[in-house]
Amino acid sequence: MQVIGELEKRRELARLGGGERRIESQHGKGKLTARERLELLLDEGSFEEWDMFVEHRCADFGMEAQKVPGDGVVTGWGTVNGRLVFVFSQDFTVFGGSLSESHACKICKIMERAMQVGAPVIGLNDSGGARIQEGVDSLAGYAEVFQRNVLASGVVPQISVIMGPCAGGAVYSPAMTDFIFMVKDTSYMFVTGPDVVKTVTHEVVTHEELGGAVTHTSKSGVADLAFEHDVDALAEVRRFIDFLPASNREKAPVLETQDPVDRPEPSLDNLIPANPNKPYDVKELIGKVVDEGHFYELQPTYAGNIVIGFARMEGCTVGIVANQPMVLAGCLDIDASKKAARFVRFCDCFNIPIVTFVDVPGFLPGTDQEYGGIIKHGAKLLFAFAEATVPKVTCITRKAYGGAYDVMASKHLRGDVNYAWPTAEIAVMGSKGAVEIIFRADIGDDEKIEARTEEYKERFANPFVAAQRGFIDEGIMPCNTRRRLCGALRMLRGKELQNPWKKHDNIPL
Ligand code: HXC
Repeated sequence: MQVIGELEKRRELARLGGGERRIESQHGKGKLTARERLELLLDEGSFEEWDMFVEHRCADFGMEAQKVPGDGVVTGWGTVNGRLVFVFSQDFTVFGGSLSESHACKICKIMERAMQVGAPVIGLNDSGGARIQEGVDSLAGYAEVFQRNVLASGVVPQISVIMGPCAGGAVYSPAMTDFIFMVKDTSYMFVTGPDVVKTVTHEVVTHEELGGAVTHTSKSGVADLAFEHDVDALAEVRRFIDFLPASNREKAPVLETQDPVDRPEPSLDNLIPANPNKPYDVKELIGKVVDEGHFYELQPTYAGNIVIGFARMEGCTVGIVANQPMVLAGCLDIDASKKAARFVRFCDCFNIPIVTFVDVPGFLPGTDQEYGGIIKHGAKLLFAFAEATVPKVTCITRKAYGGAYDVMASKHLRGDVNYAWPTAEIAVMGSKGAVEIIFRADIGDDEKIEARTEEYKERFANPFVAAQRGFIDEGIMPCNTRRRLCGALRMLRGKELQNPWKKHDNIPL
């Protein structure tokens, strides 16, 4: 009986973390505690905690007298919508959530188990970084976590939620996970903080401006989504994870849908404006084609010229990649290429078919792009589509020009089913630009140029030449896009394709 009493007493102590005063301070900042967060993230009563009584072993700077059971991180496993996940949640009330050797060991333990059993790892980050009193032991702890992030990459999905400070080298663990969600105003990520920035570059910048949720979801592209508060962010993780398989050995869960597979969408027949230079919103197309119009967009405020995210078709998860004519006319640039390439690779790791909507006038020209390395970054997207062995279904809605035509999951990059709307234009470039190059001598003679342009348009501004070569499998009516895509994806469910054996590839990083 005494032992049971002692156990309960110790549990109580562990649950209290850094104590009432610090919990109040955490709440005062608009943040939930580590345990409150896990309660919201996981199904009720499903959390099984591990290592509740682990303590640090540091004896410097009076640390031997300051031990808190759990040592600043709550770890274990539970379920989200009935599916197994492994979790860690850093407790800012204990030494500022800072990472000690023991804290790192706890995180590594759940990561290893997650890899073995095949279940996602969700990390809730709220930490002052390396435990300063521990010195190199703490750095070693970080590196152990990094190593496991890398080993787990492509084996189980890894999701990071940034819910407080995440600075210095500590940012590199989330950076190596698959998705980063942030909370506005209370979370930040940077390699060096505002004070160091001021000393080194003389720039004056706030925490929020330098590494807040808005910065990372709109300027840097480091994070995928930003949420108003902890509750929102955790509810979204619960919705999001339903799109993902538990591991690379499994397929994503199939959700029953009431949306008929053969639902026609007549409004799509009028989506493409008569004027080829006029934009339209590709998200309208996506919304009208996927199950129940439900599209889970990632990075919506970064590189808007390409749209990425998950949806379901006939209940099965698909990754969507689409050029967005509303932004930069849908051109591919550095940011768009990197954004989409990483997404395509995620889908390929985790057996998620890719649906690509193409309306791309080419790569964005200019010194900014060339000096920034568009050659290398554009190659990332090309590489990602080309190496992907998951089912790839492509639909060209309008422009598919030049190298960008090749890149966007074309037949030549092992596109499995390549459809084109009647409005598709598959050519080396736009008609006017093409004529001005091949009939340069006629420049100045407007009539001739116009006639040549018409001729070029007639020849190439359509899907027929590509279809004659078999580069397009079929022309489809826009109103039937949902039915045709669902059919193609269904046909491809048993697809098996393997790349040649290699240790790993050498994607142009
Ligand atoms: C030990 C830490 C700590 C740390 C915070 N605390 N950071 N203890 N190691 N890294 C403790 C504080 O002493 C304090 O303890 C409690 O956590 C809360 O901290 P406050 O400063 O009161 O909170 P706040 O004002 O909200 O500021 C939070 C903070 C600040 C911005 C994170 O604490 C801070 O700047 N911490 C140091 C950050 C840092 O330099 N970390 C090392 C970076 S290098 P009490 O007992 O008062 O509650 C790094 C390298 C990683 O991380 C390398 C990986 C390769």
